Amino acid sequence: MMAQDDPSAAMELVGRLEHLAVGAGVAAALQAAVKLGVPEAVGDEPKEVAEIATKANVLPGTLGRLLRALERQGVFEEVSPGFYRHNELSRLLRDDSPYGLKHLVVWLGAPWTWQAWPRLDEAVRHGKAVVPEIYGKDFYSYLNQDAPESARAFDKAMTAVSSLSSRQVAKNVDLGEVNSVVDIAGGQGHLLRTLLAQHSHVHGTLFDLEGTVADAVPELGEDGEFGDRCQVVAGDCLSEVPVKAELYILKNILDWPDENSLRVLNNIKETADPGSRVLVIDSVMDAVPEEMRVTSVIDLFMLLNVGGQRHTRSEFEALFGKAGFEFTRTVAVPGTFPTLHLVEARIPG
Ligand SMILES: C[S@@+](CC[C@H](N)C(=O)[O-])C[C@H]1O[C@@H](n2cnc3c(N)ncnc32)[C@H](O)[C@@H]1O
Repeated sequence: MMAQDDPSAAMELVGRLEHLAVGAGVAAALQAAVKLGVPEAVGDEPKEVAEIATKANVLPGTLGRLLRALERQGVFEEVSPGFYRHNELSRLLRDDSPYGLKHLVVWLGAPWTWQAWPRLDEAVRHGKAVVPEIYGKDFYSYLNQDAPESARAFDKAMTAVSSLSSRQVAKNVDLGEVNSVVDIAGGQGHLLRTLLAQHSHVHGTLFDLEGTVADAVPELGEDGEFGDRCQVVAGDCLSEVPVKAELYILKNILDWPDENSLRVLNNIKETADPGSRVLVIDSVMDAVPEEMRVTSVIDLFMLLNVGGQRHTRSEFEALFGKAGFEFTRTVAVPGTFPTLHLVEARIPG
């Protein structure tokens, strides 16, 4: 029987679709709570909405509505009518949470995203990014030149996401015979710091755009803990990769158009010695189905901003082939979400 012929089954479907259709409102509620400091105002013991509102400096009536909407999604717990406390999910949004997910929430709700999502239909029709259409320049130029707040929110979100996985990644990267590493588009250097901390013989270079490396983690700076075996280099990897190393890391960067990825790989080939290794660290599209609920939407996010995409393992392998690299292997990094994969290749010769 078709669900439409069974009124209660049909209503269940209607409910599921309506839930999906209000998704933008759910994301906005989460972002509003973080921006208003609600997670810091709610405690582990139940508090009345009025008390939370005073602490967050908002109106109690509307805050009650915001908390109710989030509680329905499993964020915060309403212990008795009008009294809320943290649950495991809402606690992750606090400023003092070691996971820093607050920064990811702020980034995923950056003002440009609310300009770009409504144009997803155009992006799907034409297969092109919409950010350059809206702002008249490519995504990273727009961020760094015109939207410094969003740019710093991006850097913080990337660092937060990196901090969730860096230790696991570092455990799985084989640096036994490697003396020098460059992390290309390495953000603020969280992964590089972790690698240098775990491998005292390794010298590292952090390479990223100027605005990003200006806020590199202090341990990598000249006076920092690893200052004597680390350099921080500002530059554009699409123009050149001016650093020689035995291992080139590309984490969460080859998700832009493949022509850009090929340019970066070619720039590496121009500088590096034959035999040098390249390691792509990324989540992949053919991972665990449950993870795909996040990854497949991030894939659309990439389409909107840089006209890019998430890849499958074999697409990465093919990319290496096109760039003239020898593909070596792919391994998953356990304990990461979405699961990161290490896709390795070497420069022939
Ligand atoms: C998605 S983030 C990944 C950051 C870091 N690798 C990580 O996994 O946390 C992409 C990074 O690429 C950098 N980036 C973008 N275009 C670049 C370019 N042309 N040259 C160098 N870095 C670039 C951005 O500044 C940003 O730090």
